[in-house]
Amino acid sequence: MGAASKHDNNNRSCLSRHKWKISILAFILIAVAVAVPLAILKPWDKNSSNSSSNNSHNGNNQPTGPVTPTNPGPIPPTTPVLPSKNDTARPNAYTPPLNEPFDYATGKMKMRGVNLGGWLVLEPFISPSLFEPYIKQGVIDEWTLCKLLGPEKAKAHLEAHYSSWVTEDTFSRLQGMGINHVRIPIGFWALGGLTADEPYVPTLSWTYLLRGIEWARKYGIRVMVELHAAPGSQNGWNHSGRLGVINWINGTEGIANAQRTLPYLQQLATFFSGPDYAHVAPIMGLLNEPAAHLIGVDPVKTWYTQAMSVVRAATGAGEGKGPWAIIHDGMVGLNAWAGFLPSGDRVMLDTHQYIMFNDDLMRMNQTTQLKFACETWGGSMITSTKEFGPTMVGEFSVAVNDCATYLNGIGAGYRWDGTYNGAPPKSPNSTCTNENNASTYTPEYKKFLSNYFLAQIEAFEQGAGWFYWNFKTENNPLWSYFAGVEGGWIPKDVNNRGASYCASAGYKFSG
Ligand SMILES: *[C@@H]1O[C@H](CO)[C@@H](O)[C@H](O)[C@H]1NC(C)=O
Ligand SMILES: *[C@@H]1O[C@H](CO)[C@@H](O)[C@H](O)[C@H]1NC(C)=O
Ligand SMILES: *[C@@H]1O[C@H](CO)[C@@H](O)[C@H](O)[C@H]1NC(C)=O
Ligand SMILES: *[C@@H]1O[C@H](CO)[C@@H](O)[C@H](O)[C@H]1NC(C)=O
Ligand SMILES: *[C@@H]1O[C@H](CO)[C@@H](O)[C@H](O)[C@H]1NC(C)=O
Ligand SMILES: *[C@@H]1O[C@H](CO)[C@@H](O)[C@H](O)[C@H]1NC(C)=O
Ligand SMILES: *[C@@H]1O[C@H](CO)[C@@H](O)[C@H](O)[C@H]1NC(C)=O
Ligand SMILES: *[C@@H]1O[C@H](CO)[C@@H](O)[C@H](O)[C@H]1NC(C)=O
Repeated sequence: MGAASKHDNNNRSCLSRHKWKISILAFILIAVAVAVPLAILKPWDKNSSNSSSNNSHNGNNQPTGPVTPTNPGPIPPTTPVLPSKNDTARPNAYTPPLNEPFDYATGKMKMRGVNLGGWLVLEPFISPSLFEPYIKQGVIDEWTLCKLLGPEKAKAHLEAHYSSWVTEDTFSRLQGMGINHVRIPIGFWALGGLTADEPYVPTLSWTYLLRGIEWARKYGIRVMVELHAAPGSQNGWNHSGRLGVINWINGTEGIANAQRTLPYLQQLATFFSGPDYAHVAPIMGLLNEPAAHLIGVDPVKTWYTQAMSVVRAATGAGEGKGPWAIIHDGMVGLNAWAGFLPSGDRVMLDTHQYIMFNDDLMRMNQTTQLKFACETWGGSMITSTKEFGPTMVGEFSVAVNDCATYLNGIGAGYRWDGTYNGAPPKSPNSTCTNENNASTYTPEYKKFLSNYFLAQIEAFEQGAGWFYWNFKTENNPLWSYFAGVEGGWIPKDVNNRGASYCASAGYKFSG
């Protein structure tokens, strides 16, 4: 998650300075696409180094399951824990059973989802306890964590987390809250195929992903599997696995890394269009937050065009042939995507809405923030649905400050209290001292949070729906759906939430 510099303009000039380079890069990108073979590890193959095996979906060549784990720790099941292919469950009376279509195309059904973030891709702000013992030694992201620990310790460290952060109880609780979808971020390392210098733990997370999907199936919750971290880092943010330079499209190996990402999508699309998974994993995120605002909109569009061909070549075209494909707006706004892929086959656009990463939005008063959520965000969903097609919000939260510990990265400060990048605090006496402590929230503040949650989901349901970031955190209540329900600012059942906030406040979804 987290487009920290979503609206920072500092780097935009870089874009124009490098425009000519970007055009050449876009050209090379297309050339390389034709040349690079689709050869990566498939964690579901016993002999995963054989990339030439026929993996097409005729029912006989189905991927059969993950590799057998060799770690004797908390060993996850190697085959689904529950009978597979029983897709009759439904999460609630408003959502069709898995084996009946969910109508993504017309907007009649709304995705009401949460992200299972900080699970198979780590984020210091979601689970600081995984990082804190190692911060003194320079750990700032999953790359440096794995590198410091080395393969064996990293594997044990991650496996303890994978096996406890998400459990069957997670899905059971979400179902009880009226949630009908989860978005599960994964890193490319879930499928293996790492180079010698990439320290990530390969394929382990794949096993846990499949285990999570079986629980989702049991509770009738649909899954969006989502590539959150690509080789080389598509945005340079810590949640791409590696904080620092963008080496995807941009940078010395950027072209190769962008091309290297495509076979991962091919493998995912192929796997999740098989009969065991098509019902439960009917939408797939091609790539989270590629930094189009820094590396150029055109090359990112070119790459998404290639990604769509790779995915549809793997699944076949038309309804029922593989998952819907979700593309992200790349932090350049929905308008930039109007008319993109005009005859795209089951493509949806994803945007992430946060106010705490943008000084102007963070400094608005609460009334203006509520109006903004209803009118501007609601309006933009309507416009994008007309001009692009189905549009959704894959990430948002009720946080109005950026006080969550490590939210801006390990070692970074906070906009709210004036410790980030030299900008003044929200107001002269703003501090982060109590912002992460829900027991200090006043009834008025909780009422605001409640309105702000409703304003957002009503706005986002002007499009195809929403996914809250995140289902839980270790200690930042504003970023935790579970904490919101417990604290009373998120409805106990999101399908039965009373009168419309935006309408009662007199706000129209029109911008
Ligand atoms: C790889 O798979 C292909 C096609 O299934 C098969 O012909 C070939 O023998 C396999 N190679 C190895 C090394 O297993
Ligand atoms: C893969 O399997 C499909 C379906 O059986 C078949 O049509 C296709 O020719 C095979 N491809 C290769 C490369 O073996
Ligand atoms: C399939 O799942 C449904 C709902 O989860 C359950 O009621 C039913 O008994 C299951 N059917 C079989 C054959 O296991
Ligand atoms: C680190 O990730 C958080 C979300 O986990 C994001 O808000 C922040 O901007 C990222 N910081 C950097 C420097 O990548
Ligand atoms: C793009 O790549 C160059 C060369 O590696 C690097 O200096 C620059 O910082 C990168 N740009 C971004 C935005 O990461
Ligand atoms: C909030 O900000 C708006 C726009 O700046 C202003 O018109 C309004 O009076 C403010 N409301 C409060 C309660 O401060
Ligand atoms: C700042 O402190 C002053 C004096 O205690 C108080 O009147 C004011 O409401 C505070 N402002 C905020 C935004 O908390
Ligand atoms: C949270 O606030 C409560 C009430 O003010 C206080 O008792 C508690 O110690 C605080 N917790 C933390 C972790 O600061």
